[in-house]
Amino acid sequence: MRKVTKAVIPAAGLGTRVLPATKAQPKEMLVIVDKPSLQYIVEELVESGIEDIIIVTGRNKNSIEDHFDFSFELEKTLERDGKDELLEKVEKISSMANICYVRQNHPKGLGHAILKARPFVGDEPFVIALGDDIIYNPETPVAKQLIENYEKFGSSVVGCQAVDLKDVSKYGIVAPARKIDNKTCEISDFVEKPDVEKAPSRLACLGRYLLTPKIFEYLAKAKPGKGGEIQLTDSILDMMKDGEKVVAYDFDGERYDIGNKFGLLKANIEFGLRNEETRDELRSYLENEFNIDKK
Ligand code: UTP
Repeated sequence: MRKVTKAVIPAAGLGTRVLPATKAQPKEMLVIVDKPSLQYIVEELVESGIEDIIIVTGRNKNSIEDHFDFSFELEKTLERDGKDELLEKVEKISSMANICYVRQNHPKGLGHAILKARPFVGDEPFVIALGDDIIYNPETPVAKQLIENYEKFGSSVVGCQAVDLKDVSKYGIVAPARKIDNKTCEISDFVEKPDVEKAPSRLACLGRYLLTPKIFEYLAKAKPGKGGEIQLTDSILDMMKDGEKVVAYDFDGERYDIGNKFGLLKANIEFGLRNEETRDELRSYLENEFNIDKK
């Protein structure tokens, strides 16, 4: 079994749900407290043992490349001013991982974005981390949980969590087959954004996958599915129909969907309460000054 060292972050969507913030910048660069959301995801991958990261970019990609690049002027200025702590933070960003970029010229769907990474991934299993899903788990980062399950079962793994029934129509929902253990099950079907009454379960695919390179064969011949987009879940299903094993894994972690306005606000509040520079002031503000009845 090959060690998993590569990951793909698709970040080429239009981000229409958070317009106008995403008119001139990718949603993956929207800030949560003091870092763009993409940095939280890159850090999760690095902490999980990933060495090479391929970011699929679209229009307005420059800010992403600049952020993860070496910034000569800034670093020299921080060094000259003796701002060592900040310098360390900034230096770390460009040296964390080997990051490369591929362009998805037209956002034709998540499956299409992943296919763009094929020449970089080659014949290796790889992690997919959606650029608008931050998953907080300070003990075992979620990509690491997926890698552990890949090593345990020797198969592709889809990261899932149960969502409220009223929210099933926002996600790809798993139809569970045989239960393997408390956290994992085999999958019999995926239903992309089902109506509440047609949902086979509440188990939603939430932004993390570990797939074998076989997926590329199916993505290459995939036809547009729901919403006219090339859906990753359709190709996973086609791969399963040909006998490839895929398990759903109910991961541990707090997920923030920063692709919608409420998710973005929630992430800022909760990460603000975890950040040592902001937590006391924010807590005091929320407890003592913020009076919701007066707003
Ligand atoms: P979403 O469907 O949430 O992104 O895709 P979107 O299309 O930007 O969202 P809205 O509905 O317009 O607000 C999940 C992830 O896949 C990427 C997105 O950037 C996001 O990180 N994606 C999606 C691509 O890279 N390419 C695509 O064609 C679609």
